[in-house]
Amino acid sequence: MDRIRISGGRRLEGFIPISGAKNAALPLMIASLLTSETMTLHNVPRLSDVRLLMRILGNHGVDAAISGKRIGQSDESGETITLSARDIVDTTAPYELVSRMRASFWVVAPLLARMGEARVSLPGGCAIGTRPVDLLLMALEKLGASIEIDSGYVIAKAPKGLRGGLIDFPKVTVGGTHVALMAASLAHGTTEIHNAAREPEVADLAECLIKMGARIEGIGTSRIVIEGVSRLGGAHHHVLPDRIETGTYAMAVAMTGGDVMLGGARSDLLQSALGVLQQAGVEVLTSDLGIRIRRNGNGLMPVDIETQPFPGFPTDLQAQFMALMTRADGNSRIHETIFENRFMHVQELARLGAKIRLDGDVAYVEGRTRLTGAPVMATDLRASVSLVIAALAAEGETLVNRVYHLDRGFEALEKKLFRCGADIERLSGER
Ligand code: EPZ
Repeated sequence: MDRIRISGGRRLEGFIPISGAKNAALPLMIASLLTSETMTLHNVPRLSDVRLLMRILGNHGVDAAISGKRIGQSDESGETITLSARDIVDTTAPYELVSRMRASFWVVAPLLARMGEARVSLPGGCAIGTRPVDLLLMALEKLGASIEIDSGYVIAKAPKGLRGGLIDFPKVTVGGTHVALMAASLAHGTTEIHNAAREPEVADLAECLIKMGARIEGIGTSRIVIEGVSRLGGAHHHVLPDRIETGTYAMAVAMTGGDVMLGGARSDLLQSALGVLQQAGVEVLTSDLGIRIRRNGNGLMPVDIETQPFPGFPTDLQAQFMALMTRADGNSRIHETIFENRFMHVQELARLGAKIRLDGDVAYVEGRTRLTGAPVMATDLRASVSLVIAALAAEGETLVNRVYHLDRGFEALEKKLFRCGADIERLSGER
């Protein structure tokens, strides 16, 4: 099993190209099930989750191919993937596959909308909390589906097709909004989604659906209206840049000091996190090239945060920010409001010397901590990368185990950091 070795203490300087967003690419790929025509996605990140989803879609009959490089493209250009669901051969998504990636549960929506039925395994446990799918199923029921749970599988049926309805989410859910958008696009009549997620990845899916022929209004707001159509066609779509990868590297630079241009990053996708970094004393300069992050010599101010749905501070950057706050010139308070159990990184950060006290969904982080290298591992990808960030500033050597978590969500992590001066390498095939 691969590990990553990091010797801390180096400043980061240079250029990091930001990849396409994992959390946009996955629902976009799933949307290919809605049409018999070919969908072409550009700027898809090279990640194990993308590969796994290609396999899962293949199981339903989707022909998926990764195009070769074209002239002028570099390793950082992202991949172009074509997906063609001409014939859906199987409407069952088995436990063995869905349990490996929660987002694959979302296939329930296009399968049901296009084929009138879907049998999809419940995703099961997950390292960051219970993460139920009740709101996703509620949305499908509002569109006229019958839902049954049998032997760990959701059996969703709408033999006469879905019909438009009002979906009022009691809580903001990204997956629920993706599912509602995909299902409503092929339903008869009008659907209104209230309290829709406003995450940029939801808007990216909606924009791609429009290119496929869907009629959607209110993109980027919490009230989305969809006029169902009888069929959708193919489309070409560019995956938007990854705001979580952007925020992660911004925090790595803030942690080590330095000056890095995050190429292709868009500040409008993470205003809240960038604002917090500025409050902490980090320079953030936005240009056509991307976002430049700079911290030269000056200390870091502690900042209290609370995770919130977009446009608030993202839960997917909470662990990384916690690592950063161990080095602030004072104590800070981090309140996780989205997931009930997303503090798995705290114990591992403690192995590096962090002093963090947990009280329910609040973490109190002591600043001015001396971090020292140690072997660590984590149970999800954002937690893993928070350990990488801490290790970059720790004295001595850190070995990050279970690198497969990082490979799920960070394209070429060690290469991107190495090129900016970090002392980091992947140790292959060792335990
Ligand atoms: C998406 O997960 C992301 N995953 C997560 O990123 C991200 O942390 C999360 O949104 C919040 O931003 C992908 O996009 C693939 P939710 P999702 O439905 O859609 C509760 C990462 O590291 N809820 O918005 O599954 C739920 O338990 C991952 O890249 C219900 O109660 O999240 C949570 O408390 C991790 N019932 C809250 O809503 C439901 O039916 C928000 O979850 C659905 C959700």
